[in-house]
Amino acid sequence: MEFSIKTSTSEKTRTGCAVVAVIGARLSPSGQAIDAACGGQLAAALKRGDLAAKAGATLLVGTGSSIERVLLVSAGDKAGVTERIFGDMARAVVRALQGTGARDAVSWLNDVEVKDRDATWKVRTQALMARDMSYRFDRTKSKPDTTPRGPAALAFGADRTLNSALTAELRMVQALSDGADLAKDLGNLPPNLCTPAYLADTARKLGKQFGLKVEVLERKQMESLKMGALLAVAQGSELAPKLIVMRYDGAGAKQKPIALVGKGITFDTGGISLKPAADMDEMKYDMCGAASVLGTMRAVAAMGARVNLIGVIPTCENMPSGRATRPGDIVTTMSGQTVEILNTDAEGRLILCDALTYVERFKPAAVVDIATLTGACVVALGHHLSGLFTTNDALAAELSACGREAADPCWRMPLEDEYQDGLKSNFADMANVGGRAGGAVTAACFLSRFTKAYDWAHLDIAGTAWRSGAAKGSSGRPVPLLTRFVLGRAGRN
Ligand code: BES
Ligand code: MN
Ligand code: ZN
Repeated sequence: MEFSIKTSTSEKTRTGCAVVAVIGARLSPSGQAIDAACGGQLAAALKRGDLAAKAGATLLVGTGSSIERVLLVSAGDKAGVTERIFGDMARAVVRALQGTGARDAVSWLNDVEVKDRDATWKVRTQALMARDMSYRFDRTKSKPDTTPRGPAALAFGADRTLNSALTAELRMVQALSDGADLAKDLGNLPPNLCTPAYLADTARKLGKQFGLKVEVLERKQMESLKMGALLAVAQGSELAPKLIVMRYDGAGAKQKPIALVGKGITFDTGGISLKPAADMDEMKYDMCGAASVLGTMRAVAAMGARVNLIGVIPTCENMPSGRATRPGDIVTTMSGQTVEILNTDAEGRLILCDALTYVERFKPAAVVDIATLTGACVVALGHHLSGLFTTNDALAAELSACGREAADPCWRMPLEDEYQDGLKSNFADMANVGGRAGGAVTAACFLSRFTKAYDWAHLDIAGTAWRSGAAKGSSGRPVPLLTRFVLGRAGRN
């Protein structure tokens, strides 16, 4: 989908479809100008009552002029358009455009006043939504999906003085959306194709395309590094584990890097602590943390941001087999701490803990790990907010703000020392599980024991990385949040 900015007036801008807002019962200024140019057809349609006064209601009017169609979209009848209402309008517009034959469209929704939001926000919101909603995954169908994905070109009407800023913003949207699409593709690919080796190849390809330094550590090297926890999870699978290390150097060597660490379990059966059969297919999404790291690396590198970024992905399968790790096994992690594996299904924290120790060598300014870590986080927060865990108040505020700004929100969860008690083991330094209560918190507590050397936060994306049911598919989250966070660190030490 091509994006551009139009600075001509609405009635003089030829297009397959002009999109204009109706606020209360009134056409927006751009809409009035078009209406005057096409003989009052729009006002007549409104007068007939053809457009419901409900935010997001749409009406397509054929005009037979150089503006072939006009799509009216209602802002509802409440005073003041909120971010939420504007988002509903933008979504309704994309859906309606997908149902027309228009090959190109021009949105004049910048006419709509949104409280505390400027033109940049409005254009960004519409463009991101258009890209998100036109994503399709058909790589594993024998015939490609031919349902329309929306217009090939979408323009936004804006004041001339904003042209260059908005054009730059649209380039950012494309880079961000390409990153989110990569994360979606990786999540949606089946576990027989999206293996640890496939993730490593994807990283190498990104490296070539965007000039990232990519290194892939093999089992032998993990053994030399004494990554006993990662190796224990991997040992039940026929597939070799990988530790993928990517570096994007966009700032000078003096700037400390940000490190992102993503859980890359390409399939989670639970291991010997086998999961129930229902919905087990969804555990192909257990590498969505890894996918979000790859997607963010792609977005940040494509933007050419002046920041140093490191992506680390421990990746393997969690399978039951004669060689698989057993409940009761005790392993020594790279940090030297020992862990009693009481439940082999709590494997994410085991592969992450060694990766978190590994990133110490980069002396990072901050480390964020991203993981589909616990079902308990889904119980706590549902599918809207990702769980955010950190003892660092400044980092919590920074990530929360990034989530809000990027429309990819997270919610801070507790990480008090009292919860650490759940991880007591009679035989090792700690167990890998606490009780059922507060499961998302004890998981974060486990990780915290490996992150003493730097500022650290953990995002549990078990509820937000994909959708279940009829619309099953990867969401691409939290690539928008992470990208915003990394960009915000550009130029800072
Ligand atoms: N990958 C799962 C977490 C998960 C489950 C995410 C369902 C989304 C939906 C993780 O490896 C896991 O199995 N966690 C266990 C931990 C438990 C054994 C302490 C869980 O949440 O049940
Ligand atoms: Mn598991
Ligand atoms: Zn898992």
